[in-house]
Amino acid sequence: MIIGIDKIGFATSNYVLKLKDLAQARQTDPDKLSKGLLLKELSIAPVTEDIITLGASAAESILSQEDKDQIDMVIVATESAIDQSKAASVFIHGLLGIQPFARSFEIKEACYGATAALDYARLHLEKRPDSKVLVIASDIAKYGIGTPGEPTQGAGSIAMLVTANPRILTFNDDNVAQTRDVMDFWRPNYSSTPFVNGLYSTQQYLDCLKTSWTEYQKRSGLSLKDFAAVNFHLPYPKLALKGLKQIMDKSLEPAKREELTQNFNQSIIYSQKVGNIYTGSLYLGLLSLLENSPQLKAGDRIALFSYGSGAVSEIFSMNLVENFRQELKTNRLEELDQRESLSVADYERIFFEEIQLDETGSASLAGYDQQNFALTGVNQHQRQYSKVKKEA
Ligand code: CAA
Repeated sequence: MIIGIDKIGFATSNYVLKLKDLAQARQTDPDKLSKGLLLKELSIAPVTEDIITLGASAAESILSQEDKDQIDMVIVATESAIDQSKAASVFIHGLLGIQPFARSFEIKEACYGATAALDYARLHLEKRPDSKVLVIASDIAKYGIGTPGEPTQGAGSIAMLVTANPRILTFNDDNVAQTRDVMDFWRPNYSSTPFVNGLYSTQQYLDCLKTSWTEYQKRSGLSLKDFAAVNFHLPYPKLALKGLKQIMDKSLEPAKREELTQNFNQSIIYSQKVGNIYTGSLYLGLLSLLENSPQLKAGDRIALFSYGSGAVSEIFSMNLVENFRQELKTNRLEELDQRESLSVADYERIFFEEIQLDETGSASLAGYDQQNFALTGVNQHQRQYSKVKKEA
């Protein structure tokens, strides 16, 4: 049975911070961010936008009523959860009006979670080929003002509909996973921002890539010449570029090297304007590749490298389906350019604002009229969500 990704949606916040402005405010050479990290802009989420509103927006942008009637599983992967108990997918299931006889849960392993969710969706489809699974990767990456990670923050959500006979990509069931117990990046329950061993985290990322890629080649019998593109987890694009250079050995033909490099450049376009969206960032890279690469064609095989700090990594591959472009957008860059640009002072105020609850555990929020879905307030410790914009 052929199983894979039938639709991919994306949502981000309506505010953007230009990294040249951040560089000036932090007295950093702007080239360090544009060339050293390969980043240009970051999406900034206000307090009324969270993993639920972004996840619901990303999913709503791709789902038809027929999809909502057929989805029987909703998985949200996140490392910026809003509740220790109730899963984000339950809120999103309700906001989207998905039929009630569905399984909804949240999944966690840093930036890796959505990859496990996709494979679980594949296994579920093998049992129930007439159903559909909604996988959402939703995160707000916040490191804090003046931290080394500050230029690599971001906010966004990717939604993927997994079905039999998909219209974009098919899974090849060749996954190779790796787990190693390291402390490169973690966020204890009492902290709103992560603790990061920055340089160590980059070394772990690259070493997981090297060792997983060696094992993947051994088990699959494939090598880089069999791939049209490699997609990487993108905490910031420069690290992924180092990863690509690391696995392109000297025996690779110049034409293949050129093809992989060109496709890599297309895969980082959206992340350069959105920043790190943790669980979704590998799949934002995939979307960027599919929507911006003119040379990709049906049948092409794409490798994906997923990395979640802590650490779990996985390499797997997918193949492009005939007419895959019909399911993709052509105006996403124009949409990103419509975000409202923030001064550094406004970014500091908006991104780090915290909800002030009264003695009953309630608060009213405002200023969300441009959002698709919004956190409109908290009533006795219950977060209140609404659809704001009517569907076009
Ligand atoms: N012009 C051009 N380049 C410059 C420059 C200039 N004027 N000044 C510095 N650079 C270059 C540096 O040479 C360096 O490049 P190389 O990596 O090729 O050496 C690059 O800019 C970064 O500079 P620094 O090494 O000084 O590092 P930094 O202080 O900017 O911190 C970081 C980098 C540690 C990654 C930091 O951004 C961070 O802590 N980020 C969060 C953690 C993270 O993203 N880790 C990635 C792996 S973990 C993961 O993948 C999970 C996840 O999503 C978090």
